[in-house]
Amino acid sequence: MKINGRVHEQTLEPRVTLLDALRERIGLTGTKKGCDRGECGACTVLVDGRRIKSCLTLAIMQEGHDITTVEGLARGDDLHPVQDAFIQYDGFQCGFCTPGQIMSAVACIDEGHTGSDDEIRDWMSGNICRCSCYPNIVAAVRQAAREMS
Ligand code: FES
Ligand code: FES
Repeated sequence: MKINGRVHEQTLEPRVTLLDALRERIGLTGTKKGCDRGECGACTVLVDGRRIKSCLTLAIMQEGHDITTVEGLARGDDLHPVQDAFIQYDGFQCGFCTPGQIMSAVACIDEGHTGSDDEIRDWMSGNICRCSCYPNIVAAVRQAAREMS
């Protein structure tokens, strides 16, 4: 698998999810395990630029694909505009959902689903925040979308 621009060779049982491969085998623990059944979005990563819930896909299905995790967004000390906006707008409290929120937001902006706050809410609805930081998350996505346009 190519993860954050680096090729990782792994021998995995077919039942290993992409989430477990990332966290347990490759050591990329930025991607979080919340529900482990597709409901919370904490495990969101990008595969070939599309957001997916990594707990719902098997690692072997991603052979040859380009995977981006939250660790792959910053360029050295320069944070991605979405990461910057989450800090600026206080888009988190405990931070557990944040990597998934950020990955989802990157794709949401790329997809062009940021025309209004309602549209952002709708297209970010697969990511749950138990601390209920939703207004701040929407503000952060709105700001990052502006910066990236
Ligand atoms: Fe994958 Fe909750 S851990 S959706
Ligand atoms: Fe705590 Fe979202 S910041 S779950």
